[in-house]
Amino acid sequence: MVECAPGGDLSSVIESLRSSCSYINIISRNHNQFHGVPWFPRRIRELDRFANQILSYGSELDADHPGFTDPVYRARRKYFADLAFNYKHGEPLPRVDYTAEETKTWGEVFRNLTKLYPTHACKEHNHVFPLLIQNCGYAEDNIPQLEDISKFLKDSTGFSLRPVAGLLSSRDFLAGLAFRVFHSTQYIRHPSKPLYTPEPDVCHELLGHVPLFADPSFAQFSQEIGLASLGAPDEYVERLATCYWFTVEFGLCRQEGQLKAFGAGLLSSFGELQYCLSDKPQRKPFEPSVTALQTYPITEYQPLYFVAESFEDAKDKMI
Ligand SMILES: [Fe+2]
Repeated sequence: MVECAPGGDLSSVIESLRSSCSYINIISRNHNQFHGVPWFPRRIRELDRFANQILSYGSELDADHPGFTDPVYRARRKYFADLAFNYKHGEPLPRVDYTAEETKTWGEVFRNLTKLYPTHACKEHNHVFPLLIQNCGYAEDNIPQLEDISKFLKDSTGFSLRPVAGLLSSRDFLAGLAFRVFHSTQYIRHPSKPLYTPEPDVCHELLGHVPLFADPSFAQFSQEIGLASLGAPDEYVERLATCYWFTVEFGLCRQEGQLKAFGAGLLSSFGELQYCLSDKPQRKPFEPSVTALQTYPITEYQPLYFVAESFEDAKDKMI
């Protein structure tokens, strides 16, 4: 994890970030402080300020990214980055005409993951998924639109989506959750490697994250992490981001005596979704005071997962 000390040299941090995976957290950007309290949004429309506070622009790819040498893919990434960069709160989310190649990539991911969901995903994910097929255009031959999903989530739990051009700091990303806003990428991974992505993409967001934001308990749990982060010191935000990592991204839960996955990083990875429930990784009970201090790798399967008893229980412990 890369940290940015207040007043530190951000350019060197960004450089080290660019040389690694996009999942790396930078805790805070240099927002103005008021009496030592870091700036935080008081109103939902103030999330617009984060659009030009991204740590990496979505069209700048690392040398080891599958699309690095593909000019067509890079131009497409620039298009998506500009859509998000220009988005303002209250506007309809930009609709995208995905190409046949992009839809094919989505289809391969969709087909493989939906084979595993009945046995590997938590019951809440499996409950919501058919509703997304019915209401939001989820299908093997169609990449759903953020606007349709956002409306569905708004009706379900008050969550909404907004497009993001690149990686946000942990502080900014968690602040969105405080307002029940999830910052979502809209581009898709490179077609050469449909079952691999070094960064979040529309498959990760829509298949991994979106279903559970329609679940009331999970939505509340996510918002609690966000609320706790507002105006908090950096070391506290880092601990919250680690809890977020081990729950919203890589969480397991126990349901009717069986282990199931609820983390979006698992539910969007054909390989790790099978690995996480195997006897290979270590598992510990989710306990925020312990989980918050756990270190983790970002470019390989997790060696350790934390297991929640339920979203309600995880939420109570977080509070
Ligand atoms: Fe994610």
